Amino acid sequence: MPVEYKYLTQEQRDFFLKHGWLKIPGAINKKYLDEWMKDLWIRLDYKEDDPSTWKEEYVKLPRHREVPAEEFAPDAWKACVELVGGEDRIDPVRERYMGDHFILNHGSEYWTTHDSPPEKTPGWHTDNDWYRQFLDSSGIALTLIHCFTDIEPRAGGTYLCEDGMTGVCKYLYDHPEGLEVPFDQLYTHIKDCKEFLAVTAKAGDTFITHTYLPHTASKNHLRKPRVITNPHVTLKEPFNFNRPDPSDNSLVEQVILDRLGRTSLPEWHITAPRRFFYPRNYTFKSARLGEELERMIAHANIYLKGDDAIKQHYKRNGFDLPHGPNKLPEGKKVYTHGMEVKRAVDD
Ligand SMILES: [Fe+2]
Repeated sequence: MPVEYKYLTQEQRDFFLKHGWLKIPGAINKKYLDEWMKDLWIRLDYKEDDPSTWKEEYVKLPRHREVPAEEFAPDAWKACVELVGGEDRIDPVRERYMGDHFILNHGSEYWTTHDSPPEKTPGWHTDNDWYRQFLDSSGIALTLIHCFTDIEPRAGGTYLCEDGMTGVCKYLYDHPEGLEVPFDQLYTHIKDCKEFLAVTAKAGDTFITHTYLPHTASKNHLRKPRVITNPHVTLKEPFNFNRPDPSDNSLVEQVILDRLGRTSLPEWHITAPRRFFYPRNYTFKSARLGEELERMIAHANIYLKGDDAIKQHYKRNGFDLPHGPNKLPEGKKVYTHGMEVKRAVDD
């Protein structure tokens, strides 16, 4: 079936094909924007008006609250659905809820007087910490950047590298055996790229980025706290690069074909099994959870929906998968709420 476009304009579709991202202004439902930001500083245990208490320059928090994606950011969700070729291609469970797993970039005194141009900034990556990566892997088809604060230029907005997509697609094409995390070799070409930009936004804006658009944290030179979340869209099936009718291709698939200079890839097949495992990110986020919860409960500012809701949340985020290569650091405690978490090392 040809992909239907009822929300995205031709201009937006062309923009995504060319640049690999789209900005949806004012996408976040204000109710959640306001409500979830209320206890940010309690969770952090920093003083909002005293930067000397901001101990960490860059912090990733665990998630306490979440709502279905279409409720959290209705217009962004409509755009995501069309970019991946329709809701029937989206996994109905994995990452279907969006939450308050904030990523904070506070900057530091050092960066108020030093620069870090994008091509020299470390940490370039595309998101994936939970599966063997093939060219057609769609565990992360889109990476979203929900902006919970205004982000001025030089205030820590995510760096994006538009011309870095081609190198990622070509490397994955050349490695049908798949890549194991981490994928540092996928980004060695970024230092030679030219098309960089840094996210700037108003609180409530959402950036939707292609899974192969490399990105990294920029430095916050202004020390105005920057708060985002970065959920993803997961598909049921791998990308299909050989649809008989090209109008069936999603825009996400089309971006990959365009970067490879091809219209289909009949000769390309994976040569190793697919593999899925526990998300690496959560192993260090969970270490913060207990203390954060205690502070939030102490401030009576949390709502808890009970064990069943928490178990469903675990399924949506892959915490029921085997640990694979993402074992917990020695001595770290995981808050499982009684849910059995498999610990076998798979292969
Ligand atoms: Fe990322």
